[in-house]
Amino acid sequence: MVEEQQLAIIEDDKYTGKLFIGVLRGIKRLDPILRGNVRIPYVEYHEYWSQAYPEMSYTNVYVSLCSVIDPDNKKIENCRIAPHPNSKVYVMTKGASILNKIEEAIRKTVQEEICVGEQKYSGLKLPLNAYYARCHIGVFGATGMGKSRLVKALVDELVKNYAIIIFDHTGVDYTPFYNVNYVISSKNIEISADVLSSVVLDMARLDRTTYPTYMDVACMVFLKQLKGENVKLEVGRRSLRIDDLTDDPLEKFISVADGVMATLGAKDTTRAKAKLFLSEYMDKTFIDEVVNKRKMSPKEIVQQALKLKGKSPLVINLGDDTEIAVKRGIVYDIISAAWEIVKECRNPLNLGFVIDEAQNYAGEYTYPTNRIVEMTAREGRKWGLFVILASQRVSRDISASIRANINTVFFSKLQATGDLKEISGFLDIGGIEENDLALLESRDFFVAGLMNPLRIPMLLRVKEVS
Ligand SMILES: Nc1ncnc2c1ncn2[C@@H]1O[C@H](COP(=O)(O)OP(=O)(O)O)[C@@H](O)[C@H]1O
Ligand SMILES: [Mg+2]
Repeated sequence: MVEEQQLAIIEDDKYTGKLFIGVLRGIKRLDPILRGNVRIPYVEYHEYWSQAYPEMSYTNVYVSLCSVIDPDNKKIENCRIAPHPNSKVYVMTKGASILNKIEEAIRKTVQEEICVGEQKYSGLKLPLNAYYARCHIGVFGATGMGKSRLVKALVDELVKNYAIIIFDHTGVDYTPFYNVNYVISSKNIEISADVLSSVVLDMARLDRTTYPTYMDVACMVFLKQLKGENVKLEVGRRSLRIDDLTDDPLEKFISVADGVMATLGAKDTTRAKAKLFLSEYMDKTFIDEVVNKRKMSPKEIVQQALKLKGKSPLVINLGDDTEIAVKRGIVYDIISAAWEIVKECRNPLNLGFVIDEAQNYAGEYTYPTNRIVEMTAREGRKWGLFVILASQRVSRDISASIRANINTVFFSKLQATGDLKEISGFLDIGGIEENDLALLESRDFFVAGLMNPLRIPMLLRVKEVS
């Protein structure tokens, strides 16, 4: 009747007033006769099988112990003793009366309590320790296992104690769930000169051997002009002069770019190609948006999120932008802005960043966001800055120095073999093996690490998020 990952209680007469709690692991059905390398007489005399064969098969399972509870005083501590042979073992089923006492005992050990689901078989509402959210969270599992829903459940609880900014990569996972007042389209957010430059080079198909410096400077000058700042650019005896004759954003941009290139001493042919390619290939609406729409500064966004603490997370809908460089640029600028604020006020912000589809932002080759996420993972804790990363894979998707700093992991069935080993490389997963994961259904996640008050991973059924 037993199943893997069920909760078990062990009652030992020699330890009165104490109960052991553990999890069932490694179920095996065995039969003393059926051994691979021993020949048995029934092979020759199979007609006697049904008459003579006694019921000798048996089931083995072990209980991986995690805690000892004193149910009357509702106290729980880590398990440092072993129960004696002959103790009674009970499997916890839903509604068992002891569950309330266990829950209360666990609750006493948790500073800031949140709950995202029940222990799968017992229904124990496992309180998680939100205090350790600041030590960063990773959510891993194959597509469709419910990572984004789990993150939403987590965020909706964490927002009681923390300000949260969610970067919604596609705009379908979080944006539809929240009040429109708390969702900001990425198209309203300023982009920095280096991001603009990289997008312009791609869109206008200008090669990256000749044009990057020209475009970097042109974009910087262009954005400063938009803000009404005066720009001085002098190279030798040449100084920047721009004919400001037009209101058309793209034409304006082209004349700035041409002026900058002339000042920087570009050859006539280089200038001619840039002018032609920019007017031919550049997406006009993109420059229009830069000029007319992208007005919100990253700092304003951080401040707005801080104001919403206790109420709602702030969702950045990155689905409105298609260029990955723009998405990364915005994520980078917003996290950087938070660090700027920290440096100014020297106070912990208690601000979390949710990065779903993290393979686009936290992998080894996802410059520049991987840098800022790395810094946040490494040094953010002191200032209450933390990240919640969700992704399908561990090893390739999340850079090594980021995953080394993740202290709580939720994981379900994984996309690739070897990922579980990767997780066990930076976190104690208490002997869970690849085949334990194969049977998990959507919404089933193990929780392991600092936020889990029990010291071995618990299998949770994530609550309904609709
Ligand atoms: N906690 C949950 N509550 C309700 N539905 C869920 C939950 N978890 C998963 N689902 C269902 O599974 C689908 C996939 O979940 P999602 O979080 O988008 O997966 P992932 O992000 O891992 O690809 C959802 O569209 C939803 O129908
Ligand atoms: Mg998802």
